[in-house]
Amino acid sequence: MALLTKAPRGTQDVLPSQSSRWQYVEATLLNTARLFGFKEIRFPTFEHTELFIRSVGDTTDVVQKEMYTFTDKGDRSITLRPEGTASVVRTALEHGLLNDALPMKASYVIPCFRYEKPQAGRLREFHQFGVEMFGSQSPNADAEVIGLVKNCFDTLGITDIALEINSIGCPECRPKYLKALREYFAARQEELCPTCQERLEKNPMRILDCKSPVCHDIAKDAPTGLEYLCQECKEHFEGLKKRLELMGIEYTVNPRIVRGLDYYTKTVFEFISQNIGAQGTVCGGGRYDGLIGQMGGAPTPAIGFAMGLERLLLVMDQCGAEFPPEQGCDVYIGSMGEAASLKAVELTARLREEGFSAECDLMNRSVKAQMKYADKIGARYSVILGENELSTGACQLKNMKNREITELKLDDSFVDAVYQQIMHSCYMDLEDSVEKMEL
Ligand code: HAM
Repeated sequence: MALLTKAPRGTQDVLPSQSSRWQYVEATLLNTARLFGFKEIRFPTFEHTELFIRSVGDTTDVVQKEMYTFTDKGDRSITLRPEGTASVVRTALEHGLLNDALPMKASYVIPCFRYEKPQAGRLREFHQFGVEMFGSQSPNADAEVIGLVKNCFDTLGITDIALEINSIGCPECRPKYLKALREYFAARQEELCPTCQERLEKNPMRILDCKSPVCHDIAKDAPTGLEYLCQECKEHFEGLKKRLELMGIEYTVNPRIVRGLDYYTKTVFEFISQNIGAQGTVCGGGRYDGLIGQMGGAPTPAIGFAMGLERLLLVMDQCGAEFPPEQGCDVYIGSMGEAASLKAVELTARLREEGFSAECDLMNRSVKAQMKYADKIGARYSVILGENELSTGACQLKNMKNREITELKLDDSFVDAVYQQIMHSCYMDLEDSVEKMEL
């Protein structure tokens, strides 16, 4: 029975009182992406399992341990998406988006699913805002997507977050690095966890981000990719650093960043907060120049990132970032008696037609209880209708903040008169806040 009223482990409900925070963050992120030329793309919550195995990589934790995979009624293996990049590549190939003007730019806000051990900032259903850009191999593209993340954080008032960058090379230089890694880990093979013992031959880079404490400890002294970069990768990385400096974006080079997914090449980066606990990576991304070709498209360079919205909100709370005030009810129309109640229903409908948020009594409450409710929902204005108002054809509009009263007629001028009052009070609020800013 308890299961009926309990959400599954690792999921989070967003209650009506919290949803405006999410709407604000999502709209700000998508709008910032739009300023950089990224339009929103939407794609299914589930895909063929093969898509993630082939793109995210069969030796990654995500594929080996964390996917929500099931067989559907048509005997297909289906997986709830653990991330968005693979789907955006699939969508672009399926719909020929790479035949349009390049670079192709797309943004998304999506729920993702990973069967991980839940803790603060780590859920089984979480949400990502991300972007993907296809077609540019220039370090300008790397700088642009990193600049976009920075712009998002600045717009949301996030101050306390550090950018770390690295390069993990390309098919030209990676084999030499993998050889060095294999040699390093082979010397301590017995101590590695069983999964990493298997990874040693196939993909030793995955040992670097294993969550087992022993593997993590051994990985600390492993050789880093930067030492093995080919000339082209080196120049690309230097090009990115130069651009970040020109753009005034602070960064540190962290050769330990390898990312947990297999498709990356060259640039990888993370934005990390020290203030939200162990799961401090708010945003991660990088280049994946090989993935589109690997999935059957013409070889096309690509880069992108995704940020976890739950972690983003934690950081915003931690650094005291401001959210816009919630849009509450403009006018509450209270009533006493059947005839007044009918009039309240009519006026409420007319106000809503004009774009106001208006409410009236739905509970058969006393006038006193109706006014208490109007207070509770934060109504800016209230009106009470009774026999007297109906017979005189006039009512009083009360400003719930300063208790000021304005006489209004209950005829066709009603909605316009309410509009005037609301505009007036908006103006007064604005003057108030300008005065406060000046002080
Ligand atoms: P990722 O690093 O796996 O990269 O995830 C991106 C972000 O999603 C993380 O930095 C984190 O904020 C959030 N995240 C991941 N797992 C969880 C979880 N279990 N609970 C809460 N938040 C989580 C990707 O997904 C790549 N697709 C990013 C990318 C796009 N690279 C290129 N383009």
